[in-house]
Amino acid sequence: MRRSSYPEQEVNSINWQAFKLILPYLFEFKNRIAFAMLCLVLTKVASVYLPFILKDIVDTLDANVPENLQIAIVPLGLVAAYGMTRLAIVVFAEIRDTLFGRVTERAIRRIGLKVFRHLHALDLDFHLNRQTGGLSRDIDRGTTGISFLMRFMVFNIVPTLLEITMVVTILFVNYGIWFAVITLGSILVYIFYSVYATNLRTRYVRAANTADSSSNTRAIDSLLNYETVKYFTNEEFEAKAYDQQLATWEQAKIKNRLSLFALNGGQALIIALAMTSMLALAAVKVSEGEMTLGDFVLVNAFMMQIFMPLNFLGFVYREIKGSLANIENLFGLLAKSPKVQDAPDAKAVVIKQGTINFENIEFSYHKKRKIIKNISFQVKGGEKVAVVGTSGSGKSTLVKLLFRFYDVSSGNILIDGQNVVDVSQHSLRQHIGIVPQDTVLFNDTLFANVQYGDPKASKTQVMAAIEMAHLTKFVASLPDGVETKVGERGLKLSGGEKQRVAIARTILKNPTILVFDEATSSLDSQSEQAILTAINEVAKNRTSLVIAHRLSTIIDSDNIIVMSEGNIVEQGNHQQLLALHGQYSKMWQLQQSTN
Ligand SMILES: Nc1ncnc2c1ncn2[C@@H]1O[C@H](COP(=O)(O)OP(=O)(O)O)[C@@H](O)[C@H]1O
Ligand SMILES: [Mg+2]
Repeated sequence: MRRSSYPEQEVNSINWQAFKLILPYLFEFKNRIAFAMLCLVLTKVASVYLPFILKDIVDTLDANVPENLQIAIVPLGLVAAYGMTRLAIVVFAEIRDTLFGRVTERAIRRIGLKVFRHLHALDLDFHLNRQTGGLSRDIDRGTTGISFLMRFMVFNIVPTLLEITMVVTILFVNYGIWFAVITLGSILVYIFYSVYATNLRTRYVRAANTADSSSNTRAIDSLLNYETVKYFTNEEFEAKAYDQQLATWEQAKIKNRLSLFALNGGQALIIALAMTSMLALAAVKVSEGEMTLGDFVLVNAFMMQIFMPLNFLGFVYREIKGSLANIENLFGLLAKSPKVQDAPDAKAVVIKQGTINFENIEFSYHKKRKIIKNISFQVKGGEKVAVVGTSGSGKSTLVKLLFRFYDVSSGNILIDGQNVVDVSQHSLRQHIGIVPQDTVLFNDTLFANVQYGDPKASKTQVMAAIEMAHLTKFVASLPDGVETKVGERGLKLSGGEKQRVAIARTILKNPTILVFDEATSSLDSQSEQAILTAINEVAKNRTSLVIAHRLSTIIDSDNIIVMSEGNIVEQGNHQQLLALHGQYSKMWQLQQSTN
């Protein structure tokens, strides 16, 4: 089933801006384009020349009728020339297509890569607010739009215009003003009518497409809910609902067809009128002896030749409009600038001890709700500092700020005295390793997912990281070992296995600063102990920030920050906090009794 391939709201205005946008990308192959254009002109010259050969053939035949002698000889050469010219037209057109196809593909490649890079440069907020599915559809439509635009501009619109110009000139020079006037006039009427009628039709085309989409959606949704339908024996209900959608679609299709009939009928009328008057004029001139029989055939051939490509005009016009809107949309993505940007003079961060300072930071995702209210603490180089607190208190947000996924609304985050907003994001992120709360894996092998931490790492290094993350036993139990595919987003692994892959990956990255965001939350107590040993080994002599839910995992920390609703409520080491008999001590007792 067909769907409308471009955003509906933009259908009614044509936007040439998009054409300007892609122009620079086409100039990479100047020679190719020049050569393709030459072929284009040659094609059209040959096809305009064709009716002249036809005229000569007819005139020769006509002149030879009474004598009946040379018939077999003279026109044969012309007939051969006719065949050769036809062949030449096709060959030049093919060369042109081949040459220009490459130009289009290169432009699509360049633009595709640019958009891809740009999307990765945009901030996290953009990606969280945007449906990835919609994004890829935008890119897809945009690139399809480019190739459509190129194909029809270069292979349809431009050649047709060229041909019309040549033919009108020839008619004017050879047969006088009237032939030229009728041809040009009818073409103009034809174009205006097509554009006008196509615009009018848009409403019906759109209605049919919408009906088509919604009946489709309805059917798919119903089939996805197969079990639910059975549980409630609602097959009949589903069928009725689907049929209602189909009925709407049927109605919309009828209107669509009638409007198409009006469009095609009108076009045919214009062509018929133009042809009739041209041929009538030619017939009169032939009978008056001003034109030969060959001229009559030539005029007829020209008209056929010009009106044929115009037949597609309504379709081409509509599609080009859609393509331009899609291209514009694609370039709209490029025009979006990331909220988090490197300062113009940003340098690479230089880390020696790896001391982190959070100084009076405040942050909110939305103006109306402050998430981090006023937080200050220090993680000295080489120390292990833990952050604990209720779910939703802003712990993961702190990590996102350190990683500079977002900028703080006030306060500073310093690493060895350098503000994170002053250094390049790339260098900052190179030095920080994170085992996130929810690990998402690439749909690739386990090995590839671990190697992602350092794509240049050797097999031995990757295996060592796997060993350190206590994954060896698990890997050994898999029939395909490290070559096991982890499934979409890593869904074929359990939560704990995924976390260990994430740990192995970070070990391989070998950063100066380590962050663990509830990195052992999906593990049972036994695996947790094993992982903790691994984490402690890795974290030795490095700065580490550990966010934890289970307090038993962080009692050895140099400092423990207790957060609640965006504030620090207590801090100190485990013993000090217990002695306070405050929030930490309450949480500790609660967890001791449940464990
Ligand atoms: N991208 C976001 N946009 C809006 N609100 C968010 C976003 N991410 C997290 N939050 C909200 O911020 C609060 C703190 O989240 P988070 O830092 O993840 O808490 P936790 O301490 O459990 O790690 C939560 O109430 C959450 O709903
Ligand atoms: Mg969290």
